[in-house]
Amino acid sequence: NRFFSSLLDFKGKKVMVTMGPTQEAIDPVRFISNHSSGKMGLAIAKAFQKQGAEVFVVSGPVSLDLGSEGFHLYSVHSVDEMYKAAKSIHDQMDICVFAAAVADYSPKVIASEKIKKQGEELSILLKKNVDIALELGKSKRSNQIHVGFALETEKEELHAKAKLERKNFDLIVLNSAKEEGAGFQHDTNKVKIFHKDGKAVQSDLLPKSKIADLILDEVKNLPVWV
Ligand code: CTP
Ligand code: CA
Repeated sequence: NRFFSSLLDFKGKKVMVTMGPTQEAIDPVRFISNHSSGKMGLAIAKAFQKQGAEVFVVSGPVSLDLGSEGFHLYSVHSVDEMYKAAKSIHDQMDICVFAAAVADYSPKVIASEKIKKQGEELSILLKKNVDIALELGKSKRSNQIHVGFALETEKEELHAKAKLERKNFDLIVLNSAKEEGAGFQHDTNKVKIFHKDGKAVQSDLLPKSKIADLILDEVKNLPVWV
């Protein structure tokens, strides 16, 4: 019975999902962040849990209720905190989904006092952050699965496929940045999921819960299980 078995397809599996934005402090009262709502990551975490997995959520600041879902929850702010939490559990995981919108750069120095208003222009020097998916991808075992996301505005497929290789992902989920109703903040999304061998699956514009189910279906199609 296909329906019954699908409920338990991830029983006994440990799954980590990074999600939400990161916040990079500028001074004690300000930060750099982005518009990620965490909704796609939460939908994925819930889908895995529903299918029997033990789910570990590493989330940046989001206005979603994560506390009552029964996840192992790691609430973080900065990229460095997110990396530390993810790295500490990575070894135990069977599947990792990198759905967080991680800041690529953060202020090189965090001002210890609130920065006062001064001249007509103000520069903040930024430094490159650790790439969590890239670093953890280096120590990925052959029995571990890594799923990444990509949000592109040009040469979408080329860039997504390059990230799939560079970060040692097994699957990458390309978000349509230009699609009305898809991506950041929305309850719906439209994605194209790429496998390493070039196979790709295009979704319609669907609720994020349905997109999550499609991603799980592609995880089940990976050769690592056979
Ligand atoms: N990612 C990560 N740590 C970072 C940056 C990205 O773990 N410091 C992960 C994201 O969670 C996502 C994937 O890497 O799964 C791709 O993120 P994206 O921002 O699209 O890729 P970048 O390599 O940062 O490239 P760019 O922003 O220049 O397109
Ligand atoms: Ca980036």
